[in-house]
Amino acid sequence: SMRTIILGIESSCDDTSAAVIADGILLSNVIANQDVHKAYGGVVPELASRAHQQNIIPVVYEALERAGITSDQLNAVAFTRGPGLMGSLLVGTSFAKGLALSLNLPLIDVNHLQGHVLAHFIQEKDHDFAPPAFPFLCLLVSGGNSQIVLVKSYYDMEIIGQTIDDAAGEAFDKCAKVMGLPYPGGPVVDRLAKEGAPDAFVFSKPQIKGYDYSFSGLKTSFLYTIRDHLKEDPFFIQRHTNDLCASLQNTIIEILMEKLRKAAFDLNIRDVAVAGGVSANSGLRKAFVEHGEKYHWNVFIPKFAFTTDNAAMIAITGYYKYLNKQFCDIDLPPFSKTTI
Ligand code: KG4
Repeated sequence: SMRTIILGIESSCDDTSAAVIADGILLSNVIANQDVHKAYGGVVPELASRAHQQNIIPVVYEALERAGITSDQLNAVAFTRGPGLMGSLLVGTSFAKGLALSLNLPLIDVNHLQGHVLAHFIQEKDHDFAPPAFPFLCLLVSGGNSQIVLVKSYYDMEIIGQTIDDAAGEAFDKCAKVMGLPYPGGPVVDRLAKEGAPDAFVFSKPQIKGYDYSFSGLKTSFLYTIRDHLKEDPFFIQRHTNDLCASLQNTIIEILMEKLRKAAFDLNIRDVAVAGGVSANSGLRKAFVEHGEKYHWNVFIPKFAFTTDNAAMIAITGYYKYLNKQFCDIDLPPFSKTTI
């Protein structure tokens, strides 16, 4: 029987990625990271677009090659439409359109955030596959987003809570910057936190209604704590880096889990997943496992490679949209703003 083979293309931020999925099973997932941004302490959009332009063709070729697939075997091309950096999105979108046009294939637009959520449905050959059951909750935490998503089906998702200011990843990165740590700060804070005491410092937590998040107050509280201590001890940061990291990470995790618990209780949902770049955080992963035991949740934590931006999640979303015949027109423009 014929397989359904989808090529996925992701270029929303600073990673160029292409992946091939056949009948829901991942055959390849190639990611080219961009080192050019390291020197600037953050992603420079103009440089990201240029690097995507250089990477896109080699990355797509390699994804097809590793999958053992030729372009004439493809059934559709799926691409990230948004949200993301407009210049970056234009590269992947334009390439996907050109390829679909030249091969006469249907085109599938994928929402990047929906992709993060559906990463839980990527099957790998010779790996156990036990995806969450609908409806489930997904905590989507990345550099640009912090949301609680109620996932009713592959096609029907509702954001029931989201950050009103900074994202969780931003809180990690901005506080890390205050301590003079390199960008992106999240992974560094995670590593140093392992050697520190999570209760060494107390930072303020937001008091907001419902399932929404806020991280700007924590950022200010963190900054003021450091500023005040520096008056007494000019080497305060160096002396207490590990404790600062552990306490910061602990506070971010408490803020995230408190609203997630509330949502799970209110909606009586036991299948709870996490997705996005911050789900790589070891403390957050541990909190998920502990919540699973304590509250009898079935918790779903993605494999590390599927937490950051990758085309496998775009291809799997494309696969389900293909099954549902959800194609898009060749003139569909990308969008930069956050939405599902
Ligand atoms: O989803 P993602 O790769 O892309 C963006 O949304 O930009 O998320 C990147 C974010 C960054 O803020 C980064 O610091 C954070 O995820 N991050 C982490 C960890 N690994 C990545 N934050 C905390 N702990 C980590 N281990």
